[in-house]
Amino acid sequence: MSIRIAVLPGDGIGPEVVREAVELLKLVGEKSGTIFTFTEALVGGAALEAQGEPLPAATLALCRESDVVLLGAIGHPRWDTLPADKRPERGLLGLRGGLGLYANLRPARIFPSLAAASSLKPELVENIDILIVRELTGGLYFGQPRGIEAERAFNTMIYHRHEVERIARVAFDAARRRRGRVTSVDKANVLEVSQFWRKIVLEVAGEYPDVTLDHLYVDNCAMQLVRNPGQFDVILTENMFGDILSDEAAMLTGSLGMLPSASLGSGTALYEPVHGSAPDIAGQGIANPIATMASVGMMLRHSLSLPEEADAIDRAISRTLESGARTREIAPAGAAWIGTVEMGQRIRDAYAQP
Ligand code: IPM
Ligand code: MG
Repeated sequence: MSIRIAVLPGDGIGPEVVREAVELLKLVGEKSGTIFTFTEALVGGAALEAQGEPLPAATLALCRESDVVLLGAIGHPRWDTLPADKRPERGLLGLRGGLGLYANLRPARIFPSLAAASSLKPELVENIDILIVRELTGGLYFGQPRGIEAERAFNTMIYHRHEVERIARVAFDAARRRRGRVTSVDKANVLEVSQFWRKIVLEVAGEYPDVTLDHLYVDNCAMQLVRNPGQFDVILTENMFGDILSDEAAMLTGSLGMLPSASLGSGTALYEPVHGSAPDIAGQGIANPIATMASVGMMLRHSLSLPEEADAIDRAISRTLESGARTREIAPAGAAWIGTVEMGQRIRDAYAQP
């Protein structure tokens, strides 16, 4: 079997963490007898710098021709003053839109050995195992009209029936493979688009009598996540709410540097860490590669039908953490820590010797 992987390292720590994940994929290839071919391309600030636009046509074309995309991170404060349509982030949004990646899966699970790194009390976070299903190509991020003028600016939160139906099905299907609960998050006490969202989600729920559905307003959900995160199984929500809630859920687990994500649509899927480009630590070799390496695990599970290898990667990450290995941001104050390459190597060693 031969798999074409588009590799988009992006900005900041992106190239450093992606390198560790690519090395891991090479090992997976050897072990499973899969031939991976890697082709690198530019996106985000790196592309802006080299080619004057955040998503060059060649990059999008490469992704479309590839089986999967592995992405690092995008952005830097250096480009903060650019107009919205020239910013590096537009590269990522262009990929999501251009590849039709409407379903963003963001699991937030606690590694028991890291419970102490959470900002919440260990007993509150012990059982966190949440899957956020974020709609990724609609809502405020893509709605038209949008614009900025001298005296006003506007964006549009709009959802069509088919967009809500398909993302709801992703959430219900996922819940079936998990603990059978979906919490749909909206702002139906204020927004028409949320009332519509709720109505369609209820209709889709009719196809899944075995899954329990409840609804929460987004402000209440934000509160419940820090009050009692153990209550959640699958959280289904629209684009902007999902952006915010997934950062919050990620932090409950101790570090944004730990969490992988998958963006799925009808064609090529994209895998990336949830964290950003961390310009403050870029180039220093101290970034945590775990989120990107765990994203490889999601890739093997969701796109490449190699679930045993995905499990093996998850186990390798757990065992490496249990052995006490820590990158800087998850190490207790004053404790020893290791750099990006060393952490990557230890996880690969653990993977190679199950
Ligand atoms: C994310 C990021 C992106 C988003 C940015 C970089 C455009 O925050 O993937 O959560 O807002 O979706
Ligand atoms: Mg975000």
